[in-house]
Amino acid sequence: MLTQAPKGTKDILPGEVYKWQYIEKIISEVCNTFGYKEIRLPVFEHTELFQRGVGDTTDIVQKEMYTFLDKGGRSISLRPEGTAGVVRSYIENGMASLPQPVKLYYNITAYRYEKMAKGRYREFHQFGVEAFGSTGPSIDVEIISILSTVFNKLGTNEIKLNINSIGCPKCRGEYNEKLKEYLNPKLHHLCELCMTRYNRNPLRIIDCKEEKCKEHTKDVPALVDNLCGECAEHFEGLKAGLQNLGIAYNVDKNIVRGLDYYTKTVFEFVSENVGTQGTVCGGGRYDGLVEACGGVATPGIGFAMGLERLLLEMESRGIHIPEPKGIDLFIANIGEKAFKFAQKLVYELRNKGIAAENDVVGRSLKAQMKYADKMGADYVIVLGDDEILNGKAMLKNMKKGDQKEVSLESISQIFNK
Ligand code: HAM
Repeated sequence: MLTQAPKGTKDILPGEVYKWQYIEKIISEVCNTFGYKEIRLPVFEHTELFQRGVGDTTDIVQKEMYTFLDKGGRSISLRPEGTAGVVRSYIENGMASLPQPVKLYYNITAYRYEKMAKGRYREFHQFGVEAFGSTGPSIDVEIISILSTVFNKLGTNEIKLNINSIGCPKCRGEYNEKLKEYLNPKLHHLCELCMTRYNRNPLRIIDCKEEKCKEHTKDVPALVDNLCGECAEHFEGLKAGLQNLGIAYNVDKNIVRGLDYYTKTVFEFVSENVGTQGTVCGGGRYDGLVEACGGVATPGIGFAMGLERLLLEMESRGIHIPEPKGIDLFIANIGEKAFKFAQKLVYELRNKGIAAENDVVGRSLKAQMKYADKMGADYVIVLGDDEILNGKAMLKNMKKGDQKEVSLESISQIFNK
């Protein structure tokens, strides 16, 4: 136990971190060009926020949250997702008084006590975006186009977009009655949890992961075919906007999403490479959430993408992520005088932004050369008493194998970038 990470967590080792840094860099560049600003939030929130925000009939809240009492007796939960925290921050920090829409993005870890599977962890990473204060479908299109831009830049544009609309409380209320009528004769076939959901939130039943529930809900009437006039118009606007940008989509009437806050637009980007659930990214509109969490009624929309799943997709498609460069210069030394000189020179070079290293373990010259090679050093200089005395040394190009004499004073100019 002591030397094993908890189930569902994964170390990201130094040899892999560059992949994460690469996608995080692209994500922040794209968000900046779209005018979205980064927000950083606490890892834990009051449990009530998720009960209210994500919804207390969802699998996430009912089965998957890491919840505990802190030493002050407060019920705290590790965030199972980012949206509720962003909404809390939007309200708490008075962002309603900022020019709208308020456009935010985040890169977070999230926590769900889920069954382990390919692409499914208990601690995972989400890149998410939220936009507040715009009701029309054009912001829905903008949000989706952030993802298609990220996918274009990463070379993962084969990930498919599925969209749907789950209406507003008005059309959903009418639909819920139809759904209950349909499910009534099948009720005794559903799982225990879904039997309780029947009266409280029947739409959740469609999203249940239990096989028997899936079987009995596969032909339910679709919400998108039962929208009110305003929601239907919104959905048409979304489709027209996507067509205008040339973003291909498929209408998937079965998307209801696993969180309670959605209204109107819902969408998922899917790929068969990322595990059984296939969802790389999911999102949608949540026009009632800010108000439900205690703020003034404000429309909102966003998405979150699982970065582990994005990396799985990139790996399955053989997309190469450029590896970071090794060190520029390794200064090998023989003897005390040379060591002191190397130590100081390396410090000066590093201050100028040059990736330099010297021996800090007391290795033999042969071992130092071996180390420099392993570290992928571009150049190596060997310093001994003679070199220090004469102020000159041989600079070896490790890739080409050739070398030339250089003055020790000139080294920092040679490597100046
Ligand atoms: P979600 O669909 O629950 O939505 O999660 C979004 C993405 O997070 C998923 O598509 C998946 O890539 C990743 N993900 C979820 N659970 C796991 C897991 N156990 N292991 C690995 N990856 C996982 C949300 O979280 C909403 N907050 C999205 C949103 C933002 N909607 C509006 N704004």
